[in-house]
Amino acid sequence: MKSSLLYAATAFGIALAFPSIPSQGDDRFHKWHPAGPADVRAPCPMLNSLANHGFLPHDGKAITENITISALNAALNINETLARFLHEAAATTNPQPNATTYDLDHLNRHNFLEHDASLSRVDLHFGNVQPFNQTVFDKTRAFFTDEIITVQMAANARKAAIDNSNATNPEFSLSEQGEGFSLGESVAYIIALGDAATHNVRRDLVEYLFEKERLPVELGWSRRKEVIKFEELSEMIEKLANATASVPSEARHLARNAGFHAGVRA
Ligand code: HEM
Ligand code: MG
Repeated sequence: MKSSLLYAATAFGIALAFPSIPSQGDDRFHKWHPAGPADVRAPCPMLNSLANHGFLPHDGKAITENITISALNAALNINETLARFLHEAAATTNPQPNATTYDLDHLNRHNFLEHDASLSRVDLHFGNVQPFNQTVFDKTRAFFTDEIITVQMAANARKAAIDNSNATNPEFSLSEQGEGFSLGESVAYIIALGDAATHNVRRDLVEYLFEKERLPVELGWSRRKEVIKFEELSEMIEKLANATASVPSEARHLARNAGFHAGVRA
């Protein structure tokens, strides 16, 4: 339960360990190859994109802490502390006990980090939770009612996915932890692709990331100049929860504070 935040709010914050790296100086932003038959992928549009660009190993396998830290820093300007926590969380999905690495397909294991009511993937009851699903994402996109996605639109889309799964999936479940992750994921696309000052994000950038599993460099996106920190994530999760009528108080709490630190291995 405590680990709810792990994904959601985690320490998207605390200090910035690395200086900014101008994105135009890194070839990987411009190189992209989809997964081949021997490559594994996750239910996460961003990790898949990073593997397709080569920030993460293209085969999606044996990802170490150092690889996670440098990939999230180089591609997105996420600080080391947050990257470390995300890595630790990811490593808990490795079926090998006490593993320190993970493969992207380990993240598909249901109700570890993966959960029902995703924005672009089917629930486990309906099939494979890993691949992008256009039908599911089209339902989500319907809530992006302008060229610029606001926090309210993101909240509406997330809530609709939960309501839809609740209504159609006889095995639907979303724990407080799962809901915490879900809040964090909706915030993550706003923060990683959006404007640091307004917290709005261009709809075309978000659609591009989800649908192509590619960083939207050709649409004019570039790595954020401002380091991604916990304080911002936390503030955004609060906003997203406030824009959603029915976020359980426990999920809201877990997603808001840094309980992640203690909770990952709890
Ligand atoms: C979804 C893991 C980093 C954006 C997911 C899911 C997992 C995951 C397991 C599936 C949850 C579900 O069932 O929907 C991770 C790990 C990360 C990471 C271990 C770092 C090591 C990021 C970053 C972003 C991001 C940096 C920034 C945009 C998303 C989004 C979803 C998602 C938007 C929701 C997909 C959907 O609902 O269809 N991530 N993720 N992730 N992740 Fe990540
Ligand atoms: Mg899912």
